[in-house]
Amino acid sequence: MTWEKLAALSPEEITARDAFPQGFLPLPHANQPEGGMVFPKFEIDELKKQEDRDLTRFDLDFDLPEHFVPEFPPPIYLTTRSDLGDVSKGKARHHRELYELFNGILNPKQIEGLRLLLTPFPQQQFNQTEDRRSTRASRGVACFDCHANGHTNGAFHLVGDIRPQQFRHRIETTSLRGVNIERLFGSQRGLKTSRTSPNSSSAPPTLTATT
Ligand code: HEC
Repeated sequence: MTWEKLAALSPEEITARDAFPQGFLPLPHANQPEGGMVFPKFEIDELKKQEDRDLTRFDLDFDLPEHFVPEFPPPIYLTTRSDLGDVSKGKARHHRELYELFNGILNPKQIEGLRLLLTPFPQQQFNQTEDRRSTRASRGVACFDCHANGHTNGAFHLVGDIRPQQFRHRIETTSLRGVNIERLFGSQRGLKTSRTSPNSSSAPPTLTATT
């Protein structure tokens, strides 16, 4: 098979001949039947150092080489204080030093919001029960364990809303930069057609509520 021959085929023919290049197929989860959250080693090491919270899974390791994942720790830019540039001071932000770092830069309500993004909550692989995948009982996972400094560290899991299991997509953490100007969030960008395109009117998109 060559690229030229492939380009001459219709999508139906490519499907019928099973000719779609393997390397471009969606990446499966490191354990597709089992799924669950998987964190890169540099994030695990940082959390252990800062909070003595261990996100190591005894059944699985992160499967991408570090040069394929975003720089760590990523910088933090505040839309409310763009004059300050990167306010991360070169560190991954977890609970410690939260107040010292952001007092005077964020207002109390914003600091409280950030606290929530840094607070671990139990979930399936990291909790108190025997069903967990961590050796020790775990306090859980925080938003910024994946959305590191509000960006991403490449952590992944399996999307929850597709059946059967083998068709569930591996989803890699997206950056949260820019979500302040997005009108809609959607699983796997499924609502992208509702976003305004350069040609559409400036009226906000309307959605019919579904149950
Ligand atoms: C296990 C890693 C993980 C954790 C923990 C996590 N997220 Fe996410 N987040 C993701 C992934 C993966 C996506 C993309 C989901 C998709 O495409 O269906 C996402 C998407 C998002 C989006 C949508 C972004 C967009 O551009 O549409 C927002 C907002 C978000 N997360 C906020 C949060 C908040 C708030 C928390 C904590 C309550 C959190 N996330 C915890 C991995 C994570």
